[in-house]
Amino acid sequence: MRRYLVAGNWKMNMGPSAGRELAAGLQELLQGRQLRGDVLVCPPYVTIPAVGEVAKGEPVLLGAQNCSDQEKGAYTGQVSVDMLKEAGVQYVIVAHSERREYQKETDDMFVAKINRIHEAGLKAIFCFGEVLGERKDGRAEEVVRKQLEGVLPRLEFANAYNTVLAYEPVWAIGTGETASPEQAQEIHAFSRKVVVEIMGQEVADYMRILYGGSCKPGNARELIGLPDVDGGLIGGAALKAADFVGIIEGAEASQA
Ligand code: PGA
Repeated sequence: MRRYLVAGNWKMNMGPSAGRELAAGLQELLQGRQLRGDVLVCPPYVTIPAVGEVAKGEPVLLGAQNCSDQEKGAYTGQVSVDMLKEAGVQYVIVAHSERREYQKETDDMFVAKINRIHEAGLKAIFCFGEVLGERKDGRAEEVVRKQLEGVLPRLEFANAYNTVLAYEPVWAIGTGETASPEQAQEIHAFSRKVVVEIMGQEVADYMRILYGGSCKPGNARELIGLPDVDGGLIGGAALKAADFVGIIEGAEASQA
């Protein structure tokens, strides 16, 4: 019922030439395959045009890792949603834990960004997830609920088509440690329940909830095959074409 989405978050890796090469490698490996889901790469801003030259949505879609919460004007160093749209971007990641932590971004900013993304007709990938201490204290669900409730009810145009959620337990990001299938399914099902409360059953039934945190070819099939996991947000393993394609193959196999 829900098409999977495998999204690569390249973070601060891959300048224009390396990014073009990686995207071309992906296109080559995926050429001619009829995929059951969607594949997305999110390069750094400066690399977006180079990747856009080779990834034209067949099948690799183009995304961004961030956007400004403002429309335009005197905001030095920021990039607007309209600029991203002009560059061919279709999805924008919002609220990644690294931005929550290092840029001290807040719910108010996430709401403003996602509303702008939706207004421009693009799709948002909204990230959430607990840190290790919160999980150890038995507070994972409480934290996840707070992060979802802090943003979702305030979105003006959100629906299951333009909004994707990404559960990323912070303790699993870049650490090689992955949530167990039980841990992932538990939080994904819980998150969907919170979405039912906020947005209703139908939206929750169709909304994709990705898992992120040390997802790799060896665990993708099992994770993405879980009932409430609808794809992956991939960091490290998205930087090598063969690994990223291995994850896509895992997603395909999980839906077969
Ligand atoms: P990772 O990162 O796959 O390297 O753990 C995931 C993410 O931060 O989106």
